[in-house]
Amino acid sequence: MRNAPVLTAVKPADETFSIPEKELLEMEKKYCSFGDTVHYLEEPKIFDRCEGSYMYDAAGTPFLDLQMWYSAVNLGYAHPRINNAVKRQLDQLPQVASQYLHREKIELSAMLAQHMEKKFGGEKGRIHFNVGGSQAVEDSLKIVRNYTGGKSLMFAFEGGYHGRTLGASAITSSYRYRRRYGHFGDRAQFIEFPYLFRGPKGMTKEEYGHECVKKFARMFETEYYGVWDPKAQKCEYAAFYVEPLQGTGGYVIPPMNYFSELKKVLDKYGILMVVDEIQMGFYRTGKLFSIEHFGVTPDVLVFGKALTNGLNPLSGIWAKEAMINPTIFPPGSTHSTFASNPIGTAAGLETMRVFAETDFETMVMSKGKYFLEGLKELQKKHKIIGDVDGLGLALRAEICTEDGFTPDKAMTDRMCDEAMKGDLVVNGKKYGLVLDIGGYHKNVITFAPALTISHEEIDLGLNLIDQLIRRCQKTGF
Ligand SMILES: Cc1ncc(COP(=O)(O)O)c(C=O)c1O
Repeated sequence: MRNAPVLTAVKPADETFSIPEKELLEMEKKYCSFGDTVHYLEEPKIFDRCEGSYMYDAAGTPFLDLQMWYSAVNLGYAHPRINNAVKRQLDQLPQVASQYLHREKIELSAMLAQHMEKKFGGEKGRIHFNVGGSQAVEDSLKIVRNYTGGKSLMFAFEGGYHGRTLGASAITSSYRYRRRYGHFGDRAQFIEFPYLFRGPKGMTKEEYGHECVKKFARMFETEYYGVWDPKAQKCEYAAFYVEPLQGTGGYVIPPMNYFSELKKVLDKYGILMVVDEIQMGFYRTGKLFSIEHFGVTPDVLVFGKALTNGLNPLSGIWAKEAMINPTIFPPGSTHSTFASNPIGTAAGLETMRVFAETDFETMVMSKGKYFLEGLKELQKKHKIIGDVDGLGLALRAEICTEDGFTPDKAMTDRMCDEAMKGDLVVNGKKYGLVLDIGGYHKNVITFAPALTISHEEIDLGLNLIDQLIRRCQKTGF
């Protein structure tokens, strides 16, 4: 390798920077932290352009994206309406400190709060902004701790993921994310999630959901189970952090009776329910918020990612009025410079307007059904697909050995690596496929296609997955 170029000259705005990709990759190895990304691929892929359901490399090869930036780009890449809203905001009011107001922040807050009020039995609440998902989770922890008189302990799920800042890591199940960073005194107590495919046999999904709630409720039978003082009628735990469908945990869909039964137990013992919609929100599952499928009203709801369709980041929280009104949660409680940045709020407002104009609920449920049927057909053909499931356009395929059950992480990794080569062929045209892996055993392909994906693109995706499995099985390791 030549020495990495020394970038001292200022690049004219309209001139294409032409450092060859090979050199860029060498520079990345030298100058970029690997800690801020996941770095799954030996040789990370450089993309050049994106539109709709596709990413394109410099050679112009289309990569059908079936994960859409971990479900941050639900309306498809470079959506003209959202892009134009950002361009308008750039020209009008691109910067304004959060202590001053701007129209988009207020309108967006009202739209979100009114939606919650309508869907959750007239419940009044307020909207609070931050930038990244983990930051919003941190803010929600403060709201909960403040409202419960400083209680710092939370319940969360095995397989749950809430981000990688310190507070969010404490309630995220994976020990891998905490291992290097010392003691987490406020580490959550992790509770079994009703994940039937890897749960007990001989039960229906609903029976298993019911059993899980019973096991959780047992913790409150006596003080000797460590969480509840029956004499004082006090619980040591402030809230239960839940993802209605587990995202990073592998798009696990619980039984429909589960959250309403769980909420009854939480209400009985004065424990709040915080719903993390960062990955499943904004119609991923066919509802604006996935908890709407389950007939419960959360106490706090956290959102991020697709609110701005993956443009200028904006995340946030809805909380019940009693928990978030300015008397109880005063100004500056979580202030962050870019909290309600105007480009983010403009993108968020336009995204919400697009959602309001089309019947996304019907569209997503119908496309999701079509995609799931396709996955079921593939499952019939390939023994290594152990489980497929889906709600709306949040779909999963669990990759196993030939017994259809033992997780096969190596095969799953290989499929994702091969998909990145961009040399799958359909009708004489080369394609790549952008896939994401999740799951307790990192053997689940989690599908989060653009909600705007066409039926032809779903067919193309299924064709490419089919080819990929055949290729990976044939070539071995
Ligand atoms: C459910 C859930 N919560 C929180 C986060 C963290 O969000 P961010 O990566 O924006 O910090 C994520 C990110 O994937 C997520 O899926």
